[in-house]
Amino acid sequence: MTTTTLTRSVGQAISRVEGGEKVRGQARYAFEQPVHRPAYLFPLQAPIAAGRVTSVDASAALAEEGVLTVFTHENAPELAPGDDPELAILQSDRIAFRGQFVGGIIAETLETARHAASLVRIQYQPEPHDADFRVDRDDLYAPDHINPSFATDTDEGDVEAALASAAVTLDETYTTPPEINNPLEPHATIAVWYEDELTLYDATQGVTMIQHAVAPLFGLAPEQVHVIAPHVGGGFGAKVTPHGNVVLAAMAAKLVASRPVKLALTRHQMFSVVGSRTATAQRIRLGADTEGGLAAISHDVIEESPRFKEFAEQTAVCTRTMYAAPSRRTTHRLVALDIPPLTFMRAPGEAPGMFALESAMDEMAIACDLDPVEFRIRNEPELDPETGLPYSSRSLVSCLLEGARRFDWAHREPTPGVRRQNGWLVGTGVAASTYPVFRIPGSSARVAVAPNGRYVVQIAAMDIGTGTWTALRQLAADELGAPFEEVELQIGDSALPGAAPAGGSVGLGCWGTAIHNGARELRERLETGGVPEEGLEAIGTDTGTPYEGEYAMHSFGAQFAEVWVREDSGEIRVPRLLGIFAAGRIINPTTARSQLLGGMTMGLSMALHEAGFVDPRFGHVVNHDFATYHIATNADVGTIEVDFLHEDDPYVNPLGTKGIGELGIVGTAAAIANAAHHATGIRVRDLPITLDKLL
Ligand code: MOS
Repeated sequence: MTTTTLTRSVGQAISRVEGGEKVRGQARYAFEQPVHRPAYLFPLQAPIAAGRVTSVDASAALAEEGVLTVFTHENAPELAPGDDPELAILQSDRIAFRGQFVGGIIAETLETARHAASLVRIQYQPEPHDADFRVDRDDLYAPDHINPSFATDTDEGDVEAALASAAVTLDETYTTPPEINNPLEPHATIAVWYEDELTLYDATQGVTMIQHAVAPLFGLAPEQVHVIAPHVGGGFGAKVTPHGNVVLAAMAAKLVASRPVKLALTRHQMFSVVGSRTATAQRIRLGADTEGGLAAISHDVIEESPRFKEFAEQTAVCTRTMYAAPSRRTTHRLVALDIPPLTFMRAPGEAPGMFALESAMDEMAIACDLDPVEFRIRNEPELDPETGLPYSSRSLVSCLLEGARRFDWAHREPTPGVRRQNGWLVGTGVAASTYPVFRIPGSSARVAVAPNGRYVVQIAAMDIGTGTWTALRQLAADELGAPFEEVELQIGDSALPGAAPAGGSVGLGCWGTAIHNGARELRERLETGGVPEEGLEAIGTDTGTPYEGEYAMHSFGAQFAEVWVREDSGEIRVPRLLGIFAAGRIINPTTARSQLLGGMTMGLSMALHEAGFVDPRFGHVVNHDFATYHIATNADVGTIEVDFLHEDDPYVNPLGTKGIGELGIVGTAAAIANAAHHATGIRVRDLPITLDKLL
C-alpha cells in the first residue's frame, strides 16, 4: 500500500479558511441565500398522536391579506410512492405521530404565514395511541437488523454458565432518556422550481443524499434536482437523511410556481419532525475471576422505535468489540410506539451504549478491588473479540496510560466520598471511547489543472462546521504536491461529483480517498505529459481499502473527568475533562481538536443536562424548547483538554485517517458518572445526572 510522503500542508494547524466570513456574518447558510421575491412557508402540525384528519377549513386563513395558498392532504401535489414513510407527507389523512406535518401556509411574509396558520381549522378523529416507553412491556420485538446492517443479537460461548461460576459478578440496568438533536442552525430550505428543475438551498449533511432522495418523489431524474449547501450550522445526524421539511418546502414551491419558497423550522418544530435519539434501558451483566479477568459480558438493550418507520439503534455494538471475554452476548429489542421519527444523533448507539458499558466497567473494577484503568488494561483483547480479526490499529491502552499520567491518576485515593474541599465532594473518573471506521460508498472527485498552474478540486462534500473546507484542501495540496494556496476547493453543491454525506464520521476518509485517487492519476498524467495543460483533469473515486474484512477498524480514546458535588445541595460541576485519542493520521490539528472538544462538550451535556420528557398521554416531547430542554452552555463547561496520540494505520484507507466527528462524545457521560460516584459514593445509572440523584 502506498502512503503519501509529502506533508507540506497535512498536519499543519491551519485556521478554517471560511472562519473570517463566518464571524463577519458573511457566510451564507441555507435560509440566507439571495433569491428573488421569496414566499414564506409555515407548517401545520397534527395535535394528536394517532388518527385521521376529518375536515379542513382554511377560509379564514385564505382571507388574510398576503396569504398565497394553504395546502393540506386534500390539495397537495401527489408524490411518487417511495420507501421512506417520513417523506410521504400529505399523501393521506393518516396521522402517525404528534407534530406530523398536515399542511402548510404560503404567504408574502413569515409573520403572515405564521399568523394564518393559527386560523386554519382542522378537525381530527383521534385513535388510541401508545407512547409509553417502559422496560416491563410484553410487546418487545427483535428487529431484523440494527443500524445500519449489524446483527440484532450476538451470542458466543456460554454466558449463563460463565456468570454462574464467576467469582465476581455485576447485574445492573442503565437508562438513558430521549435526546434531541439541536444544531445551532435549525433545518431550513429554500426551494425554487424552474420549469421541471428543482433547486434546494438546504441545511443538510449531504447534498448528494438529498438530491437522490427528493428527485424520485417528484418524478425527476437526480440531474433535475440541484442541492446547494456551502455552509451548514451543525447537524449531529439529524441532517444526514432527509426529513419531511425538505419535501414540504419543495411541494410548496411547486404550488407557487417560479417563486422561491423559504422554510425554516422553529426550535419547537425541531423537536418533532427531524428525528432524535432513542431512549434506552440497558441491562449489563459481567462476570470476572479473582484477578479481574472478564469471563462473561452480556448487554441486553431495550429501545423505542416509531411505529410508522422502524429505527433500530445499534446500542450494544461497541460491547461486541471492547473487551476480551470468552463468553459474550448482546441483544436489541424494540418497542414500537406512536412517536415522532428517530434518527442518528452523534454516535448513535455508541454514545448511550458506552455510557452503560463503561459505567459497568467502573463498578466491576471496584467490585474486583482493581483500579479502573488497570481493570480495562487486564481485559484488553489481542484480537477483535467479535470478528477474530486483528485490529488495524488499537491504541486504547496507550490512551489510558497517557491520560492517567496527565491526570495524576497514580495519586488518586480509590475510596469514594472522602475528598472534600470547601463544602464540595471531589472525585475523578475514567472511561474509554471508541468509534467504528465506517465507509459510505459513492464518493468521487474531479481534480483538474486550473489557470496559472493552480489546481481545482471538486467534490460534493460537506462542511457542517467541522473544517472540511480547510482539511480537504490540505489533503489535496499534498496529494498534488502543490502549496495550499494554489488549490481551489469546491464543495457543498450536488452539481459537483457526488459524495457520501457527512455522517458516520466517514467524511474525510471517503472524500479524501476520492481526492487522493484523482490527484494521483492527475500527477501521473502530468508526469508523462510534460507541461501542465489547463483543463487537464482526472476523476478519482473512493475505492475504500483493500484490507476490508482483514482487519477490525475502530478509533479509540480515554476520557478522564473531575467532578465536584456540593455536599448540601447535590449541585454538580465538571471543572475538568481530559480526552486522549488515537484516530490515525490527523490532517489538521486545530479543526480535529475542535471536533473532539465539541464531542466531549456534547457528552458533558448528555451526562448532566439533556432529557426529552415524553408525555404518554399526548405522545410528544413536552420540554420542546431551550428553556426546558437543557443543553450545556459556556458556564457549564470547565477546562477541556484534548490531545491525540500518534498512530500509523496503513490499513483503514490510503490516507491513514479514522473518523473523529463522533468519537469525542463516546465515553464522556460514563467518565462523569464514574467521577460523580467517586466523589459521593452514589452510583447514578440513569442519565442525566441531576442534583436530586446525588442527595
Ligand atoms: Mo452522524 S450521527 O452519522 O451525523
